[in-house]
Amino acid sequence: TQPLILLGLESSCDDTAAAILRIPTTGAAEILSSVVFGQTALHSDFGGVVPEIAARAHTEKLDLCVRDALAQSGVALRDLDAVAVTAGPGLIGGVIAGVMCAKGIAAGANLPLIGVNHLAGHALTPRLTDQIAYPYLMLLVSGGHCQFLIVRGPDDFTRLGGTIDDAPGEAFDKTARLLGLPQPGGPAVEHEARKGDAKRFRFPRPLLDRPGCDLSFSGLKTALLRARDQVIAEKSGLTPQDRADLCAGFQAAVSDVLAQKTARALVAYLAENPATPVLAVAGGVAANASIRAGLERTAAEVSARFIAPPLALCTDNAAMIAYAGAELFMTGHHDDMTLAARPRWPL
Ligand code: KG4
Ligand code: ZN
Repeated sequence: TQPLILLGLESSCDDTAAAILRIPTTGAAEILSSVVFGQTALHSDFGGVVPEIAARAHTEKLDLCVRDALAQSGVALRDLDAVAVTAGPGLIGGVIAGVMCAKGIAAGANLPLIGVNHLAGHALTPRLTDQIAYPYLMLLVSGGHCQFLIVRGPDDFTRLGGTIDDAPGEAFDKTARLLGLPQPGGPAVEHEARKGDAKRFRFPRPLLDRPGCDLSFSGLKTALLRARDQVIAEKSGLTPQDRADLCAGFQAAVSDVLAQKTARALVAYLAENPATPVLAVAGGVAANASIRAGLERTAAEVSARFIAPPLALCTDNAAMIAYAGAELFMTGHHDDMTLAARPRWPL
């Protein structure tokens, strides 16, 4: 048998991405190229991703990303074995742009087409980076998602719980906006929090009083707004120290909630899967050092191995889509030209 070579495409949010992945007959998958064209600058004036602007930019950049991914990998179109593309969930204009691009390439080069769930892409990344065996527990924490998944196979997931409102990344972004910090808010809030006193403001720990692994972050944002306005009313303005203390308190609350809910998810997971004690994380929020440290400690408490892929593979990219596509392809799955873009697609 020959190694497999796949092209992956991603365009479900604000990153346009293409990647070439080589799967040898034995051993680790190899990322031959991974091109990501971020749209942050296009949306920065609007305080959030504007779907129509995102879709247009994806349409403009997709074929350039494919061209660069092919050139950087040294792979020609005729060397490809399949094309994998994010078919949802996400902003529908962007997802359609990616699916149409993939269909064009698949039809033109006569290649199998594989529609990939974006969340499966994130969830399988620890297998791409660390060859983790099934099953394992995954915490997906990004700007759009927050959920605990037991990952048993490329198309076999059990959701243990997740956010009932905002995703944590979204909460970081809103916090940054409320405090006049730049977007994306996560890195900015983390930077401020380093200079702050996490004990000055006491933020709520939503849903910790209730059983289960569901989370909530929208109340935190409201609490932050109230604390900010109270300081402003008392002192007619925010000092840099006030801002740092608010960030530190907010980050401590998010970190605390994530760690404690992860502890519960681990107990539930380990009860059924004691032989594979692994906690993996993915998503942009996993870049936060204090959140990551909290999760690492939580895993250590139950002697579980902790896996966090390198940041470039934690955030949106096409290598993870090519990888998930390869796993599906190897189990005999592929799609055809009827593949539909799906705005919602629960695992
Ligand atoms: O996974 P990602 O790149 O995109 C998706 O949401 O799919 O995650 C982006 C999110 C943004 O909300 C950003 O503010 C957050 O991850 N983020 C962080 C940090 N870096 C990025 N949140 C907290 N701390 C960080 N250091
Ligand atoms: Zn994502």
